[in-house]
Amino acid sequence: MFFMANWKMNKTIGESESYAERINELLEGEETKHTIVIFPPFTALRSLSEHLKGISVGAQDIYYEESGAFTGEISPIMVREAGASYVIIGHSERRRLFGETNESVQKKALSALKHGLTPVICIGESLREREAGRTINIIKEQLGYIPKDKKVIIAYEPLWAIGTGRSASSEEIEEVHRFIKGIIDAPVLYGGSVNSRNSGEILGIEGVDGALIGGASLDADEFFSIIKSAK
Ligand code: PGA
Repeated sequence: MFFMANWKMNKTIGESESYAERINELLEGEETKHTIVIFPPFTALRSLSEHLKGISVGAQDIYYEESGAFTGEISPIMVREAGASYVIIGHSERRRLFGETNESVQKKALSALKHGLTPVICIGESLREREAGRTINIIKEQLGYIPKDKKVIIAYEPLWAIGTGRSASSEEIEEVHRFIKGIIDAPVLYGGSVNSRNSGEILGIEGVDGALIGGASLDADEFFSIIKSAK
């Protein structure tokens, strides 16, 4: 199973080092067959990658060019050098707040693959789209832009479930995961209000290969409880 912690715009370098110390302590002696990845802000990538034991780090985004006049952007080569081996692409917050499109998601995914980063590509429908019965169509459209590469990981994150405390139901998750797996042969993670109280059930759903966790991943003990809830 995959356990991915998306810290979003949280934690300084100092705070991420304390977190690393605690999660290392919790995982010590645990024989984990899981893949655990933490996505800190760019500034903490290098230090976190040096402090964690048995946990990978990833970037929350990249730009698709390698270098050049792109003020404020960061390239796949730079995050690789800072210790990242994964990258989140197309998170709904980037799509909604920062103009990310299916086209830019595609370019970034191809660039990540070219530079040896594993892309974790986020897809999901809005509440309005779900209520209009358009979920599957939206997912299909988003999947159309995702490279069919064996390194790709998909995260299904219904927008209305992110940071709201309201996760999707087991039936809703199972239906969408089954649909995704019918189109692309890739691990499919669920994301959206996952915590240690609902993770056991969510991780037990057919077609769920792990979780992308936002808010609940900010506390090392809570993140560890989520990992432990996997059967
Ligand atoms: P959440 O965020 O767990 O806080 O809902 C998930 C995500 O945005 O990846």
